[in-house]
Amino acid sequence: MQKPSGANFILKGDICYSKTHETLNVCSDGYIICIDGKSEGVYSSLPDTWLKRSELPVIDYSSCLIIPGLVDLHTHAPQFAFRGLGMDLELLEWLKTYAFVEEAKYADTQYARLAYSALIENLLNGPNTRVVMFATVHTPATSLLMDMLESSGLVSLVGKVNMDRNCPDTLREKSASHSLAATEEWLSKCAYQNVRPILTPRFIPTCSDELMKGLAGLQKKYNLPVQSHLSENKSEIEWVAKLRRGSSGYGAAYLEDDLFGGSVPTLMAHCVWSDEKETALMAERQVYAVHCPQSNTNLSSGIAPVRRFLQAGIPVGLGSDVAGGAHSSIFRAMADAIQVSKLRKPLLNVDEKPLTLEEAFYLATVSGGAFFGKAGMGASGSFDNGYEFDALVIDDKNITPPFEITIRDRLERVVYLSDDRNIKAKYVRGRSLT
Ligand code: GUN
Ligand code: FE
Repeated sequence: MQKPSGANFILKGDICYSKTHETLNVCSDGYIICIDGKSEGVYSSLPDTWLKRSELPVIDYSSCLIIPGLVDLHTHAPQFAFRGLGMDLELLEWLKTYAFVEEAKYADTQYARLAYSALIENLLNGPNTRVVMFATVHTPATSLLMDMLESSGLVSLVGKVNMDRNCPDTLREKSASHSLAATEEWLSKCAYQNVRPILTPRFIPTCSDELMKGLAGLQKKYNLPVQSHLSENKSEIEWVAKLRRGSSGYGAAYLEDDLFGGSVPTLMAHCVWSDEKETALMAERQVYAVHCPQSNTNLSSGIAPVRRFLQAGIPVGLGSDVAGGAHSSIFRAMADAIQVSKLRKPLLNVDEKPLTLEEAFYLATVSGGAFFGKAGMGASGSFDNGYEFDALVIDDKNITPPFEITIRDRLERVVYLSDDRNIKAKYVRGRSLT
């Protein structure tokens, strides 16, 4: 199979992408044009203007599905090494027993290189083309992760984690000012094409008020996006209420710290227990709720009210939350999101419509990809004109049934049944990564 050497080419195949939350655009045996790493649109037959451009190779993936690359809006790079282990505890005990113990090892950059190599190989083989990651508190290991991601060709936002309290001495930054100085040192080294920094206060329990204030200063000084955790687990929420007695809620505490949406592109992972007040605040501030259904199940956190978020107009994306979640693939997160949404009504007696395939696909592509646009990197997730060209070519022959099947239904089977071996090609910003 001919592969494009540059970022200008045409792909031919069975194309499927989201138009809205509820609708898919499908084009059987159609064409997508990629110029300078951006989509120039989808055509059922090639217009003359493009046919005349003989320098554009047409890469024939007839009978394969072509869909936008998937976006993981929340994962922990150092936790990849212990995914699938230690699923016997709830969040706060799990952090102490497993996550912090593993993360302390990243003081050693040699260990970090070994562990991050395995992570990047896994990502290259899988369906995600963009990821937003927590690294660790360590500046050298975080810079190393960013160097390695840059070489991979994937697009990413990566955060050096900030923590100056309530974590083991092996990880705790000595003071707010130490943490802020280390963050500025790290920022001064960030010069990449495909990787950008994102400010990463881990969550309120591990960040003093002074640290949060200082981070808000850095956010303004460097105009950075922000990621953190919000309302994941009941014990965590009670702890935050004690730590921040003067605040009217968990989200409200981030807002007091000037790290909660508005002009600050903000991702908040989980939001399982966000009440009406917090939901309204997220909608007003356009804070992303990052739904991580596998992690929420493994850590017994609960089922996030995604339908309520969508009805309130909150932007929603999906996250693997490795290693709360064991699987990095956002196909798996889509299936999990649909499945757990069906449990809310019987378990919680709420009258909410479960998520559809179309909605889960929209969250994994357009909605996730829009955050990269907000963060100044160019949006992905659609094949409409002007989107950055992230695409997956999926050979689904081995999961094709013996009866006629629509492109929409093929997509559904790919979500539930495919694995990395079905990915025949992967393009990120118009560059082939396979
Ligand atoms: N809250 C604070 N840190 C973490 C983490 O590493 N994983 C999850 N799931 N929640 C967190
Ligand atoms: Fe997390």
